[in-house]
This record gives sequence, C-alpha cells and structure tokens, in this order.
Amino acid sequence: MSQPKPSSSLGALLRQYMPSYLAGALMLAAFQLSMNRIDWLSKQAIDAIFSSQAGQSAGAAVRPALWMLVLAVAAFFTRVASRFFCFNAGRDIEYSLRQRLLDSLHRLGMAFYRKMPAGEIMSRATNDLTQVRLLTGFGVMNLINVVFAVASALQVMSGISLRLTVASLVVFPLVMFSTKLFSASMFQRTRKNQETLGRLTEVVQGNLAGVRVIKSFGLQSAEERRFAAVNREYQEASLALARLRGMMIPVVGSAAAIGVLTFFAYGSALLLRGPSQGGISEGDFFAFSLALNRMTWPMVALGFLLSILQRGRVSFARLNEVFDAQPEVKDGPITPEKPLSGALRVRDLSFAYGDRKVLDGVSFSLQTGESLAIVGRTGSGKTTLAMLLARLLPTPEKAVFLDEQDVCSLKLSAVRGVVGYAQQDAFLFSTTVARNIGFMLRDPDSAESLEKIKQAAQSAQIYNELQDLPDKLDTIVGERGVQLSGGQKQRTALARALLWQPRLLILDDPLSAVDAKTEAAILDALRGHIGEPAHDGDRSLLLITHRVAAAARCQRILVLDHGRVVESGTHQQLLQLGGIYAGFAREQQRARELEELGQSDAPESLPTLSVGGQP
Ligand SMILES: Nc1ncnc2c1ncn2[C@@H]1O[C@H](COP(=O)(O)OP(=O)(O)OP(=O)(O)O)[C@@H](O)[C@H]1O
Ligand SMILES: [Mg+2]
Repeated sequence: MSQPKPSSSLGALLRQYMPSYLAGALMLAAFQLSMNRIDWLSKQAIDAIFSSQAGQSAGAAVRPALWMLVLAVAAFFTRVASRFFCFNAGRDIEYSLRQRLLDSLHRLGMAFYRKMPAGEIMSRATNDLTQVRLLTGFGVMNLINVVFAVASALQVMSGISLRLTVASLVVFPLVMFSTKLFSASMFQRTRKNQETLGRLTEVVQGNLAGVRVIKSFGLQSAEERRFAAVNREYQEASLALARLRGMMIPVVGSAAAIGVLTFFAYGSALLLRGPSQGGISEGDFFAFSLALNRMTWPMVALGFLLSILQRGRVSFARLNEVFDAQPEVKDGPITPEKPLSGALRVRDLSFAYGDRKVLDGVSFSLQTGESLAIVGRTGSGKTTLAMLLARLLPTPEKAVFLDEQDVCSLKLSAVRGVVGYAQQDAFLFSTTVARNIGFMLRDPDSAESLEKIKQAAQSAQIYNELQDLPDKLDTIVGERGVQLSGGQKQRTALARALLWQPRLLILDDPLSAVDAKTEAAILDALRGHIGEPAHDGDRSLLLITHRVAAAARCQRILVLDHGRVVESGTHQQLLQLGGIYAGFAREQQRARELEELGQSDAPESLPTLSVGGQP
C-alpha cells in the first residue's frame, strides 16, 4: 500500500515512453521517405515512357519500376514497425494506468466510495482507459504520421510546381478551420456521453447486486422505468455525438475534395501547356496526384484524430480524479523494528461521522493472550470502534496504541499485519468455498492449505454442512455467496478469519445468524484460538457481540452505550452490577427459555401456556 503519487500530466506520461515513440517516429519517417521516393520514381518512369521511342519505352521504365518494388517492400515493413512501436507504447501505458487504478482503489477509503459509486469506477476502468490507449497508441502514431506525410508530399508537390501546390492547398486552411470548429463541441458531447454511460453502468450494477430485493419487493417496473430514463439519456448523448461526428467527416471531406478538384482543373491546363512552355509533364502530373492523395487522407483524418485526442484527454482527466483522490486514512511513517505483539491500549477515543458523534471518550486495554467482549445495543458504535482499531476509518491521533506506539504513526501494513478485522457483513468472493476460506493463504490450492482450510471450517462449525454441497469445498458460492444461506455465509467468513490468525483478531458480530447450539460449538472452538500461544507470543481476541452467552466466554466485557463505555468487568461482575448487561442477560435468558419451550412442545401449546399457565 503506497502513498498516492502526484498525478502526472499526459505529456509527462508520454515522455516516459519516449524511446518507443522515437523508434515509431523513425519508422514513420522511413515510411514516408520511401513513399516520397516512389512518387519521384513514378514520375521518372512515366516521363521515360512518354519521351522515348516506341519499343524502347519498356526498357527505360524497368529500372525505376524495380526500385519502386524495393521501396514498396521497405514501406510495408517500416509501416508495420511504426505501428508496433507506437501501439505497444499505448498498450504499456494502458497496463500501467490499470495497475495504478487498482492501487488507488485499494488505498482509498469509504469517503471516496460514497462519492464515486461502483458503476462510475467501472466505467473509468474500462471505457476511459480504452480512450487513453487510443490516444497514446493510434492517436500519437497518426499525429506523427501527419507531420511526415505532409513534409514528404510537399517536397514532391513543390518540386514539381510551386504554383500548382499553392493552388491545390489553398483550401486546406478551410479544412483546418472546419475541424477546429468541430473540436469544441466534440469535447463537450464526449464528456456528456461518458458521464451518462457511467450512470447507466451504475444502475445496472445496482440492479444486479440487488436483484433479490427488487424481485421480492416487486420493484421491477419501477426499476425498468428508472433504467429507461438513464438509457434514453445515454442514447441521446450518443446520438448527439454521432450526429456531430457524422457531419464532421463529410464537411471536412468536401473541403479537401475542393483541393483535388483545383488540382485537376489547373494541373491539366499545365499539362496541356507542357514542360517547354512552363507547364508540367505527364510524369509530373501523375506524381503530383500521388503526393496530393497521400497528403489528403491524413489531413482529412485530422478531424477524426482530433476527436480521439479530445476524448483521450477527457478520459485521462477522469482517471486522474481517482489517482488524485486523497485517502482519509493516511499511512504512518514508522515501520516497527520487531513485529508488533498486538498489545492494545485505547485512550480517550472519540469519533464522529461529520457532526454526529458516535464514540465518546472510550478507554480500555487488551493484553496479548486476553479475550475481551464488546457488547452494546445496535447503533452503539461497536463496528465504528473496531474499524478505528484496524485503521479502516481515520483514527484520531494519540488515542489508539499498539505496543505503546500510536497506530497513526505506524505503517498501515504493520498495523493490518497484526490486527485482523473480520467485518460484520460477511463478504464472500465469487469463487469456491475453499478459496474463500483460504483467501489469506499464498497458495490456497495446495494440500497443506487444504488441511488448514478444513480445520478452520471445522472450528467455524461449517465443515459438515459443506459436505452436503454438490462439490463440497470446491462448490462455487456464486456472486457474493448467493448459493449459501445467511448463516453459512457468516460461518464461511468466520472460518476465513480463524485461519487468518492475526495477533489481535477482531470478530464483529460473527454469530448473529446462527442458532444457540451452533453458537456454543463455535465458542468452544474459538477458545482454542484465544490465548493460543503462537510461535512468537500469544493471540488475543476482541469479540463484538449482541449475545451474552458469547460475551460470557471472554475474560472481560465492555458495555458500550451511545458511544460510551458504561460498564466493564467480568460476566459475573456485570450481572451483579444489575445494569445494561444484566438487562441483556435477562432478556436473552427469557428468549432462550421460550425457544426451548417452542422446540419441545407443539406450537399450539404456547397459547395455552400464556392463558392458563398450564403446560
Ligand atoms: N459511514 C457512516 N456514516 C455516518 N454514520 C454512520 C456510518 N456508519 C455508522 N454510522 C452511525 O454511527 C452509529 C454507530 O454505528 P455502528 O455501526 O458503529 O454501530 P454498531 O454498534 O456496530 O451497531 P450494530 O450492532 O447494529 O452493528 C450509528 O448511529 C450509525 O448510524
Ligand atoms: Mg456493527
């Protein structure tokens, strides 16, 4: 995880690949030089034919024709080589930008993702990156080519007749002017088009991720309408762009055609006059038309090229918005000399989301080898606290210490290396169960890894259920684990956390979706993990839970209420205190008794119980 590099300008990026572009430019120069020689040789051959006696003509044209053949082969190879160098540079730039994009996305935190939805990011990662590649490959190559093509053609044309050259090129400023006119609105329409595509992708993404919710709430038609509106917007933006592009080619093309027309009119007059009368020869006429043709296409294509450059620039700016975004969690400067033990001290920690204070003066400590439960009503700030400890939120300075060092001054990689946070919403990747559990392992498919994965699955009480799946541990769980039940998902994520074995493991409500019996079994297994001596010291556990039964297994318990620590002590101490925790214990005891009754008696016996009090 690295600090953000300042975003480079497009120019700086291109300069990095200068050698490739220079090689490409050299090849393009060689290509245009070959074409230039071919023009002159064709003049030579045609003039030879016209000026010689019948019967000798073929002989006089053979030498230039052979040279033309050689040059045509050279032109072919240099053209291919120029594409190779320039396009490869474009691909390399695309590759490095894509890597940088992922690096940035890893670095950025929730503040960024709130502002930039996933669809928008995906559109930048695909669409915008393609546009930048087009600019840095195809665009740059053609830009260089235009310069050489014009120089090489002008050399032929002006060498034949300066007057004819001026006459044929008189309209080219018009060509330039018309492309310039188009460029401003091309820029705007392109940006609008890319923005609407981003919004469209966003809606699709939301629909895919929430397909179950949409179906179960019967929201299909509302979603279809919402989609239709964005879809229409995108269509209109695309059409506006297409209209402009469609107009540009004919307008610019006709301007160029006027140049060709002028050449034919004035050129044929000069041809009829002949070289002896200040006119031109047949060879001149032919070579001139070749050169003019060679120059016309790149000039007409300038308009097209311009739009590629515009789009590439817009896209590069959009990518820079991601590269330049500042992560809210800043990396610290210190790499600890020896690995951290994971001893945690929290001192007067307060935290607010904007103006909303959710943690207020929280203090506690957790020695290595200890277990601590954090209990509290929903919304009391437990997850926020856990995320601050793992530095997933901007932790305030001088509030959280690992081995007596402020976490804010430590390298993020060092903190995350010892503090493992298993988040509340079990997230599964769309791969096999085994790979999900062994996510942290370097080689999750090896036999050794498989053994660890099995053990973790057993500790999390999911192993037996996994045996019933079609491919057991190799079953693909589907997008975000749709093929598993809520409880299975949760325990798969728990197995992943148990296998991870960081020095300080924070489990955020890992048992909310399991029944009491499974919970007890998991807690028994968990005891093996808490305080289990690692090769270099003990492990500790911070268990966030709503369940008193789970908290009771921990050595100490902290009760959080409205962001404050209101009670702390052992299970017994807190029961005797008769406060919030004792209240939880009573509520849950009652719920368990009801559950047990519900299991042992037929459901219809319950009303009898409540009315008559008889079982
Ligand atoms: N990203 C956020 N932006 C703004 N407010 C937030 C954010 N995340 C949480 N909150 C608010 O902070 C408070 C504490 O939330 P937190 O998730 O820490 O509670 P919790 O104790 O983990 O609750 P639960 O037991 O339901 O998981 C809540 O009132 C919540 O609405
Ligand atoms: Mg929570």
